[in-house]
Amino acid sequence: MPKKLISVTVNGKVQEKAVEPRTLLIHFLREELNLTGAHIGCETSHCGACTVDIDGRSVKSCTHLAVQCDGSQVLTVEGLANKGVLHAVQEGFYQEHGLQCGFCTPGMLMRAYRFLQENPNPTEAEIRMGMSGNLCRCTGYQNIVKAVQYAARKLQASATATA
Ligand code: FES
Ligand code: FES
Repeated sequence: MPKKLISVTVNGKVQEKAVEPRTLLIHFLREELNLTGAHIGCETSHCGACTVDIDGRSVKSCTHLAVQCDGSQVLTVEGLANKGVLHAVQEGFYQEHGLQCGFCTPGMLMRAYRFLQENPNPTEAEIRMGMSGNLCRCTGYQNIVKAVQYAARKLQASATATA
């Protein structure tokens, strides 16, 4: 198949690239742009280690083609920090020990980033359900729940401060 030229904004930077139609977005990000934070943990769309934010939604990039992202806005874990200051979800996972091996973490963070915009004041049950597309083999999830709660509190505090 001939390559198709796409223009996709990744972490605020426009990327114009020729891609094969079959190229999965996860491979485009990791191999073409060297954004290797997003990981691959399965071939059946379960683990969510590949989760990125596309046009305001959490998407598993292993089940999305790069060519579909023409004209899209994509955010990856490398784009979460602002001028070196950690985003609230990054700070929450750090403070609450929400990671061990770190393999699931980029996907967890990208999901938490969007989930807390979908539901800024979630209950524990809502957090567990809202993060259910992301598997972790290390933490048992308990500290991830606390990490998301930490981030929710921090985001609400800064929203109040700027209101
Ligand atoms: S790599 Fe497992 S869901 Fe994408
Ligand atoms: S921290 Fe190891 S898989 Fe989640």
